[in-house]
Amino acid sequence: MAYLPRMVAMALVVAVYAGGVPLQAQPTYDPETREPVVISPTDWEFNNSCASCHGEDGKGAGFLTRVFRGVNPGDLTRLAADNGGTFPVERVYSVIDGRAEVAAHGESKMPVWGDRYMTAATGQWGPDELNELRVRNRIYALVHYLQSIQVPAE
Ligand code: HEC
Repeated sequence: MAYLPRMVAMALVVAVYAGGVPLQAQPTYDPETREPVVISPTDWEFNNSCASCHGEDGKGAGFLTRVFRGVNPGDLTRLAADNGGTFPVERVYSVIDGRAEVAAHGESKMPVWGDRYMTAATGQWGPDELNELRVRNRIYALVHYLQSIQVPAE
């Protein structure tokens, strides 16, 4: 069954492609074939996991932000505008993943999505070498979504 992981990877690639037309392609790679995989932006994951704090529009007025007073999640539509017009892909990826961030900068108010998605993947597929890729693709989908809601720099 040596090729089973490969079949899973193919299914994943197909599932990812089925998501729609990619906005600005952010490539990630199939770990086996090293072929690029294009991730499309999705808003359902954002609405599900992020809007509670960041607001449906990403501007920071989610209901949890009103409950935890003094917590400011920032305006996620200004990530590019506040970075000289360039969307900071690497930083956004790493903040969402959180695993390296927490090691480097200590606890954040934001859940560590990299850990959560890994737990979810392990629950679904067991300890599988492709789990890290599944986690990565979920995070990239969010990075893409955020990229799609950026306001232009003034
Ligand atoms: C429990 C509340 C909460 C949830 C849920 C949450 N965040 Fe955050 N997020 C924050 C806070 C608070 C910050 C500000 C930095 C900090 O305190 O760590 C932040 C910061 C960020 C930043 C960095 C913003 C910047 O200006 O650099 C990004 C990107 C981000 N969140 C994306 C997400 C995504 C994507 C999700 C969903 C998968 C999510 N967040 C879910 C609370 C949350």
